[in-house]
Order: sequence, then C-alpha cells, then structure tokens
Amino acid sequence: MAQYSRVSGAIGLITLQNPPVNALSAAVRQGIVDTVKRALSDPKVNSVVICGQNGIFCGGADIKEFGKNMSGPPLVPMIHAIEAANKPVVAAIEGSALGGGLELALGCHYRIAHSKARLGLPEVSLGLLPAAGGTQRLPRLIGVPAALELITTGRHVTAAEALQLGVVDMVTDHSTVDAAIKFALNVAGKPLDGRRISTYPCPRQSDLDSLFEEVMQKVRKSARGAIAPVACVQAVRAAATQPYLQGMEREKELMATLFTSGQARALQYCFFAQRAVGRWSMPSGARWDTSKARPVHKAAVIGLGTMGRGITVALAQTGLSVVAVETQEKQFMEAKQAVSGMLERGAKRRGVAPALDKISYSRDIQAVADVDLVIEAVFEDMALKKTVFQQLSAVCKPGTFLCTNTSGLDVDHLASQTRNPELVVGMHFFAPAHVMKLLEVVYGPQSSPQAVATAMQLGKKMGKVSVAVGNCQGFVGNRMLKPYLEQALFLLEEGATPELVDRALEEFGFPMGVFRMSDLSGLDVGWRVRKGDGLVEPGSGQPARIRKGRRYSPLGDLLCEQGRFGQKTGRGWYQYDKPGSRVAKSDPWLHNFLEEYRARHGLVAHRIDHQEVLERCLYALINEGFRILEDGIAAGPEDIDIIYVFGYGWPRHRGGPMFYAGMVGLAKVLERLEHYHHAHPDVPYLQPCSLLRRLVASGSPPVHSWREVIKKLHSQL
Ligand code: NAI
Repeated sequence: MAQYSRVSGAIGLITLQNPPVNALSAAVRQGIVDTVKRALSDPKVNSVVICGQNGIFCGGADIKEFGKNMSGPPLVPMIHAIEAANKPVVAAIEGSALGGGLELALGCHYRIAHSKARLGLPEVSLGLLPAAGGTQRLPRLIGVPAALELITTGRHVTAAEALQLGVVDMVTDHSTVDAAIKFALNVAGKPLDGRRISTYPCPRQSDLDSLFEEVMQKVRKSARGAIAPVACVQAVRAAATQPYLQGMEREKELMATLFTSGQARALQYCFFAQRAVGRWSMPSGARWDTSKARPVHKAAVIGLGTMGRGITVALAQTGLSVVAVETQEKQFMEAKQAVSGMLERGAKRRGVAPALDKISYSRDIQAVADVDLVIEAVFEDMALKKTVFQQLSAVCKPGTFLCTNTSGLDVDHLASQTRNPELVVGMHFFAPAHVMKLLEVVYGPQSSPQAVATAMQLGKKMGKVSVAVGNCQGFVGNRMLKPYLEQALFLLEEGATPELVDRALEEFGFPMGVFRMSDLSGLDVGWRVRKGDGLVEPGSGQPARIRKGRRYSPLGDLLCEQGRFGQKTGRGWYQYDKPGSRVAKSDPWLHNFLEEYRARHGLVAHRIDHQEVLERCLYALINEGFRILEDGIAAGPEDIDIIYVFGYGWPRHRGGPMFYAGMVGLAKVLERLEHYHHAHPDVPYLQPCSLLRRLVASGSPPVHSWREVIKKLHSQL
C-alpha cells in the first residue's frame, strides 16, 4: 500500500509500504493512484514527494505476480498521471530504485537520491524489458548510448554515476526525504513543462543507424541466443526514431513477445531457483539451514596450486584471516607472488585496499592449529589426501571443520581418516576459484548438518552460489558432464568434426563448445584420471573401442600420446599460433587423423547435424541428471540447474538442463533417449532413467512438482 501524509504545511508525502523492497504489487499501485489523486486535489498541497519505507525507494515489479492475472491499476497510466500532474512530484530515492521503481521515478518531475542508493533497470536479466516507459524515457533523459548500455545489461549504477549521467538531479548524504521536501518546497509553483521526460526529444545522435547496428551486433554476440537484450535495443531504437506514444506502443508489443517467451519463464525460474537451493534438508531429514552455521573467523588452505591460490584470494577478500600452507619451496614462492598480484588487481577493480595482511604463509601444516575451518587443495591423489586429513585431524583444535576441494575423490573415505568424520565436507570450487560463482558443498552420511550449514554459509559470504549435494563420483556437475563429453567423442568417431559439435553447442548458448573447452582446461587432466581408472591402453596404436564391456572412445588418449594437451601445448582438438594462445583454429591434421582413425576401425562417417549433436550430448547429460535425482544426490531439479548455470556455462535463458528437459517435453526426451539407446546399446547411460519414465507416465508434471514424484519414488523403495 501507500501511506499519505501532509508535511511542512504544503507537501503531500506518499510513502510506499510493501516489505521488504516496496515492490509495486497491485495494492501498492492502487495506493499510489489514490494518494496521488488525493495530493493533487488537496488545495493546501503545492508539491508531492514520493518515498519508500525502511530506507528503500522501490525494488520494482512484484515478481510473485508474474504469470498471474494482473489485478489492480496498470503501471503505465499510473506513471503518466504522475508525469502529467500540475504540481511538482519529487522522488526521494533511498536504498534502491530498480526496474519499475526507477520507471516510477522517471515519471516524477525531479529525482533526489541518497549517496548510497543504487539505480537500474535489471528487467533484461529476467528475460524482459522495462515496459513502464523505461525504454522510452531513459534515452530521452540521458541519451541513446548510455541508455542502451544500462537497459541491455541491466547494470545497477551508484547515485554518483546516476548524477553524472543525469538520471538524478541531486545526491545527498543526509536524509533523502528531508532533502526532497526542502527541494519540493523550492520548486512549488515553478513551470513543469520542461520536466516531463516523455515530452523531451531524444538527444541528437550522429549516425544513428550505424550506432544501432554496432550495438545490435555486440548485444547479439554476448546474448548467446537470449532475446531480451535484442528486444531492449529495438525498444530504444523506437525511442530514438519515433514519437513517444508510438515508442510506447513498440515497447508494449516487444514486452508482450518477451513475456510469453519460454526464455522469460526460464530466467524467472533461475531467479527463484537460486534463492531456493540453500534451503533443503539432507535425505536423513536433518536440515542445514543457516541458523546452524558456526561463524568462521580464521581459515586455512592447504596446497597453493591453481585452486588453492584462488581459494586463498576469495577467503581473504571476504575479510577472513587465512593461513596458506604449501610444502614445495618453488610453489610456495610462486604462490605468494601470484596471490598478492590477484589481490592487488581485484582490489584495484573494486576501489578498495588489497587484503594482503589477512594472509599468513607457512610451509608447515602445524600452522593451522588454531583455525576454524580448513580447505584442502593438494594434488588429486587419494593416498596424499588421506595423509593430509590424518595430519589435520591431529593438528587442528577440536571442532575445526575439515573440507576438501577434491573434484571427484570419495569424501566419506577422507572423513574416515579423521577423529571426527562429522566435521568433514567437500567444498568443491571451480577454476578460477576467486572468480567462478559456483560452490558444491558435498556431504557424506556422517557430515553433521552444522558442518554443511557452515560450509554453505561461508560460500555465501564469499559471494558464491552454494549448492549442497550428496557424495558420489563426480558429485553433480562432473558426473553429468561425463556422458556429455563422451557423446561428443562418439560423434567425432561417427563423422562429426570438433568445429561442428562446438558450433551446435555454442549456437545453443554455451560460451564455449566442448572441444574448445577441453583445449582450454587441458586434455591431460582427464587422461591422467582415465589412466588412474585403468581405462587407457598405452601405445597400442589401435586401441579397442570397448572398455569394461561398454563403448569407449580412445580419441582423447591418442591426442595426449602425441603431446596434444590443448592450448598449453599449442595443439589439441584445434591448433593455436603458439602455446598459451587462445584463438582456436581449425587443424587439417586433426581432420586427417579422424579420417584415418575411422578407416582403421572400419567406421563409416555419416552426416551429423546440429540437432543430433544437441540431442545426444544434452539428453545424455539430462538423463544422468534424472539418475542423480533418483539417487537423492541432488535435493531437486533446481539444485542441478543452478549448478549448470553457474558452474558449467549452461545458458541461463534456457533455465538449466532439467528445466530445459521440461521445456522440450519429457516425453520427447524419453523418446529420443530410447531411440539413441537402441542405436547404441553399448552405451548404458543412454538408457532412459526410471524417474524420467515415471514422470512421463504421470503426465510430465512441471519442474516445480518433481520433488513430490521423487519423494513418492523414495518412499516406495
Ligand atoms: P595443483 O597441482 O595446481 O596444486 C596442488 C598443490 O598442492 C601444489 O602446489 C603442491 O605442491 C601442493 N601440495 C602437495 N602436497 C601438499 C601437502 N602435503 N601440503 C601442502 N601442499 C601440498 O592442483 P589444483 O589444480 O590446484 O587442484 C587441487 C585440488 O583441487 C585437486 O584435488 C583437484 O582435483 C581439485 N580441483 C581442481 C580444479 C581445477 O580446475 N584445477 C577444479 C576443482 C577442483
């Protein structure tokens, strides 16, 4: 709702009231319409101030109302009525003015912001555009290039930047409402003709066509198939080239298309899924809600290689004291330098002092005796990790949480090496650990809810999206990746090229196709793991394509034997100008190699199209996702989807693999898996998972009700 009061004799003060962010719900919109009418008809009132309660102006539309039948007054005429008022209306912006909140402020005649306020039009991140005149007023106010940048990225700006851009008229360090009231008293009675943004012409811009063409190209490239940023450009183009009312029509039309698109639904699903993933309980029923978390003031990192360095930086940037332990002299010196460099660069970017003094380095594990939590990041070697956990268990004070960053080793086995296995969890960061948002928190049967809650909470403090998952080989993300990677190799054997497979996946929306990605992360990593698993047949020249009774592709092993490790050696699935170079170029050697390989194994290449690439790679991955749900390794489809969106580059506008399966239609996914399994009976993971069959049999319910089906399935087991 909106509360009305009269202050300082002649000011009508309207306060939006809808905790926590004063979202523009139907009741709030009705309140605004009523109170504005009242203020304008009150003869004692000369001007009006609109503010929000509890230090927040307005966080925008009420996302809970999306997809439901709209009730209450619509936003556009409400904002028009404010702009058309014959008394000055001043927006007093504290906290945030986002989306519809900023559009409301743009309908006011003046805007005063608190210095700590943030402003922005983030609709694009939900697959929408600012459809209450935002795309038409903002370019008229601040010019086309700046408006395009803000609207297509959804970026929030500080009050200082908003002032510089001309979005607000004044910034104050004191009470914004007091400043706005004073301001409103001053401007009372002054003409308002020059203050109605919709009447402004768009600032002139030379060579408008080429500007839009350039921006459109840039946006299409970075949007990777998302349609909202493109629609934002089209709407701003209408502002720049058409009269206001026609521009508003265009804005409405574009919004209608976006609103009903699957992409907006996917992005809104991700928005809610991200908030939901921290809240679930372990299969035992024990909860890890954050109230159980123990505060962590001092942490330790063991092993300062690629991952340990990033984790140390991320911890120090969070404000924790960190003890960083590395045993090898050379690595120790290099790591110290690298960590300082990363901290300095990060601090420079964020305009703060680098947290160098938060870290103490040691070559002796005894230095971790008094820390609250340890993250182990030594080589991926079970024997070594076991020794480290035994040492930690002996050295650390009682109650210290012991976490491992292993990407796949058995967390339970490590826990069994310690005196208190309930204190052990996996904290699986992604490279580079100070940049990547995802954290898988891996719990075993003995991990205590407090240990899980503490790791989840620490992840959150570090700015990560933490998802709790059960312990199994590869956890959630890497377990699902395995069939995806393997299908890509099989496609090469059957006639595809790395270029074709990568193009199909990149057009789908992945930032990088599977082969460019493995060139980047290094082919040798998987090779070492496969060797450890006894899968690699050394030096036979013509290795078999079956291992342990199932189809196996030795292609990656053959490349590694030739020293083709990817970018680091300048050759992999592609060629590079020099080792370390990032520009992948098609490699005729590789194409010849594939032809010879097929000939040697009697494989006849067939024509593979993008559809087949997507179906085989993605449905194999999705099928594994269903198995993970069936096994109780992930609490729900949302958890899997968030892992894929934040850790594996799954395009957010496609909602994550499980949501995507629902969009495609579960029956279709099932039918295609059956088809491919029939064609490749030696690939067991193509056999459709029974949970998928069950969901199809129960009428393919929407993704948010899968948990119920899973629960029933578990209760029957
Ligand atoms: P790395 O080889 O770059 O670094 C390991 C470091 O541990 C080396 O500096 C080594 O000297 C040090 N170390 C070995 N024994 C030690 C001991 N007893 N005490 C202290 N330091 C010791 O390895 P990386 O890539 O950083 O991986 C570390 C862990 O993180 C592995 O378990 C790996 O599976 C996991 N991981 C790796 C990812 C990646 O992309 N590299 C991603 C996610 C997890």
